[in-house]
Amino acid sequence: MTEYKLAPSLLSADFGILKEQLEIMEKAGAPYIHLDVMDGMFVPNISFGMPVLKSIRKYTNMVFDAHLMVVEPERYVEEVYKAGCDIINIHAEATKDVKGVIEKINGFGVKSGVTIKPATPVSEIYDVLPMVDMVLVMSVEPGFGGQKFMEEQLDKVRELKRLKDENGYKYDIQIDGGITLDNVRQVIEAGANCIVAGSSVLGKEDIAQAVKDFNKIFEEY
Ligand code: DX5
Ligand code: ZN
Repeated sequence: MTEYKLAPSLLSADFGILKEQLEIMEKAGAPYIHLDVMDGMFVPNISFGMPVLKSIRKYTNMVFDAHLMVVEPERYVEEVYKAGCDIINIHAEATKDVKGVIEKINGFGVKSGVTIKPATPVSEIYDVLPMVDMVLVMSVEPGFGGQKFMEEQLDKVRELKRLKDENGYKYDIQIDGGITLDNVRQVIEAGANCIVAGSSVLGKEDIAQAVKDFNKIFEEY
């Protein structure tokens, strides 16, 4: 049986009341918190970094799912690990040595992930698929929350699911960008089991209800 996991994205939070919002999500049943670290170079936006990760680590037991949108993530993976992240996901386009960075993350004893932007084919990451715990398919151009879901990215989710089944790979398939209660079934049916949702959870008036609504849909599968 597949386990479906909701990963609300902190990018859509009200940063003045982070602690409170984390408690609401954890209590409502969100297992992961998705943490978008941006450097203003790999993507045209700057979000938050180590001090924020370290501060919030004290207040929640949710799995810390870091999505690093930074150039040469090899410079920062150790600090991200030390800040308390449980999954460290790097972009295939961000470094010349994807394999080396994944090995480094695996060496810390935490989970590793590789992410591909909408224009990057799955074939770019074939060689690291046996080494990672998660593959993240971006269904928007990375950088900002609240963008429109790119449905054609589901072909990559289907390919990753097929490769996983054929080869016995262990990775979770995560999707990120524009996911809503209206398109999440489509995404699950394509093969994704870890669902990032920014605006659809933290952008909502009733955050707890939004978490519960996603979890209810997961129960259908
Ligand atoms: C975008 C980030 C996403 C973002 C998703 O670069 O990687 O995690 O927070 O936000 P929504 O769900 O609003 O598209
Ligand atoms: Zn993200």
